[in-house]
Amino acid sequence: MLVWLILGAFCLLLYFAITTMTKPKNFPPGPVGLPFIGSFHLIGPNFNKKIEKMAAIYGNIFSVKLKNMNFVCICGYDLFAEVMNENPKPYSGRPKLLMYELTRGPNLEGVVVGQHGPRLVAQRKLFHSVFRHLGIGNKNFDKIIVQELPEFVESIENMSEANQTVDLTSTFDCAVLNVLAYYTFGNRYSYGDEKFKWLIHCNNEFFKEVEQVFGVAFTIVSFIPYLHKIWLPKAGKAIQYCCRELEAFIGSEIEYHKKTRDQNHPRDFIDFYLEEMSSQSSKLFSESDLRKTVLDFFQAGTETTTTTLKWAVLYVVNNPDIQEKIHAEIDEVLGFDKWPCYEDRLKMPFTEATIMEVQRKANIAPIGVLHSTNKAVKLGGYNLPKGTCIVPCYHSIHYSPKHWKNPNQFDPTNFLDADGKVGTRPAFMPFGGGLRICLGMNIAKQELFLFFVTMLQHFKLQPPPGVLKLDEKYVSGGTLQPKSYQIVVKSRR
Ligand code: HEM
Ligand SMILES: *[C@@H]1O[C@H](CO)[C@@H](O)[C@H](O)[C@H]1NC(C)=O
Ligand SMILES: *[C@@H]1O[C@H](CO)[C@@H](O)[C@H](O)[C@H]1NC(C)=O
Repeated sequence: MLVWLILGAFCLLLYFAITTMTKPKNFPPGPVGLPFIGSFHLIGPNFNKKIEKMAAIYGNIFSVKLKNMNFVCICGYDLFAEVMNENPKPYSGRPKLLMYELTRGPNLEGVVVGQHGPRLVAQRKLFHSVFRHLGIGNKNFDKIIVQELPEFVESIENMSEANQTVDLTSTFDCAVLNVLAYYTFGNRYSYGDEKFKWLIHCNNEFFKEVEQVFGVAFTIVSFIPYLHKIWLPKAGKAIQYCCRELEAFIGSEIEYHKKTRDQNHPRDFIDFYLEEMSSQSSKLFSESDLRKTVLDFFQAGTETTTTTLKWAVLYVVNNPDIQEKIHAEIDEVLGFDKWPCYEDRLKMPFTEATIMEVQRKANIAPIGVLHSTNKAVKLGGYNLPKGTCIVPCYHSIHYSPKHWKNPNQFDPTNFLDADGKVGTRPAFMPFGGGLRICLGMNIAKQELFLFFVTMLQHFKLQPPPGVLKLDEKYVSGGTLQPKSYQIVVKSRR
């Protein structure tokens, strides 16, 4: 009996050891993993840096094994074009990761981590239709952002009056979250509001912890089935706590909306969603899905946008000649007293090109959100079975010498033609692509333009006394962040 047990256990272990080391047939090359853990030691908080090193050895498409999951990293424009533009459908899934299950439930509700299918398509469609409906008066969404501008400017003024040097992070946090609050809840908050400050606090705590997800403790938990039900690393608990608190907040808003909504006059995303729930016999919409979806907006839409704004400030502080050109464009098109609207970008090509260049150079989401194959597919001559996790390496396109004159330099003319017209470029994909392209892309573009322009319309931004240039190296967190910095803000009046 005992002999059989031991033999059985041994076979099981052997089986695990083999599955963690073998790869499917005709699979992209990559490091040979260790038994049980695969290439776990190659992954870590600086995964994006390690990808660059591995690409130099194995080429533009290579695989890394983690436990029994196959990750395929893709680099370079050709592979991106295929996965994101030419044949996106088979790549439109999301991998099932522990962290997703912890925060979005076993069914992976919401938008960001859900599988592609009728439910997800319906949610994305609703998002776009609400986006088109909202906007006060003439239905332009940017009205929602424009109403945010006065308090945004006042907050910067207050800070710069109180102190010689300032950190604009908290102002960006408030402004950006308020836009999403208005879109989903139908109201904005004053920056000093206690409820709002708490919402921001929970959201920021989430991002502080989330970088641990690629760390050792987390990886160990995700290796051992069911362990997470008994024990979670500290960061895991914190992440779960933040999400629960945010979800409870969203839940109370939903309750309030149920009591006060008027079927004929939906006010905001939640009203539209509730209407969809009551009129649809199908099960594509549910209240728990709504809570996760709004949570997705907060988590996908805040840190990304504020981080981009922080890089934008850093780059114009470090490039005073570029800042001067933007000031000149603003003075000509807007003057001092008119609030900008999104249409104004058509007359401000240099400013728009600068914002795109910020997104290229800062490359804040180095592996975006992972994709996963939902059927067997051929890529770069290799066979990828269903369920292969795709890791897009955005650095490889945003810094490709084939596509950019001088990729390491900050240069808005990357997005300008010889005649001064602004336009996007094929190797520029800051919002990802394919069927999972960033849902909030249009909101984000409008926010970046309007907050950036308003800030430079009112202020001149300079390094603190005694500092020539702000540090341009990033620190990694949920996104690639500039190191925390202070600047001097001078009124232009
Ligand atoms: C500068 C700001 C932003 C950047 C750089 C950014 C970037 C991204 C990227 C790279 C993805 C993954 C795309 C892919 O899988 O290929 C994504 C997905 C997503 N983003 Fe954004 N984003 C930004 C702002 C926003 C905002 C304001 C919202 C507001 C609602 C938002 C909501 C989402 C959602 C819901 C998804 C998941 C879409 C899906 O899985 O189908 N994002 N974003
Ligand atoms: C700016 O300061 C004034 C005067 O102290 C105050 O009333 C106002 O609420 C402040 N505004 C912001 C956005 O902090
Ligand atoms: C001024 O700076 C101090 C110290 O850095 C900080 O505690 C305070 O909150 C700042 N005041 C404002 C209005 O930003």
